[in-house]
Amino acid sequence: MKTKIMTIATTMSLIRRCRALGGLTFFQPSFSNVALENSAGTSSPRIRNLLRRNVSTTQPLSEKAEVKVTFVRANGERIETKGKEGDSLLDVVVNNEIDLDGFGACEGTLTCSTCHLILPKDVYDALPDKPTDEEMDMLDLAYELSETSRLGCQVILTKNLDGLEVKVPSTVNDARA
Ligand code: FES
Repeated sequence: MKTKIMTIATTMSLIRRCRALGGLTFFQPSFSNVALENSAGTSSPRIRNLLRRNVSTTQPLSEKAEVKVTFVRANGERIETKGKEGDSLLDVVVNNEIDLDGFGACEGTLTCSTCHLILPKDVYDALPDKPTDEEMDMLDLAYELSETSRLGCQVILTKNLDGLEVKVPSTVNDARA
């Protein structure tokens, strides 16, 4: 009997708390939905709407923007392709199966310099990530080094780079060889 009275008291306390939150008298959570009744029009519409929504802790997959990139070979051949925001230029070459001889030999571990690319000056200057000392050391070993050279595995695509054109040197030097 004592237990029953305590259970009733606990239930009444919960109901009072729900009412304090906006006049809710009943709500039953489940993994996929939240059902509720509202008492005599006293509920807060904001709380009611929040509780009526399906509840999920899964974050929606954000669509990554496509970024057009053109690789221009030393012979002038243009390879137009697309990557996604967050991809490196090495990812773009690999994911699109672009046939660049020896390109990306170390798979982005910053030990080969075969992913050397030459960027337009304005793009080079605007990139948020400047080359690190490790990248500079590796670039020193690359053929046809220019003032706007970068390693493709270190350049990450952003929406702002849509339409980027990069020059591919005529040959590569694998610093590991
Ligand atoms: S892939 Fe080797 S340094 Fe970029």
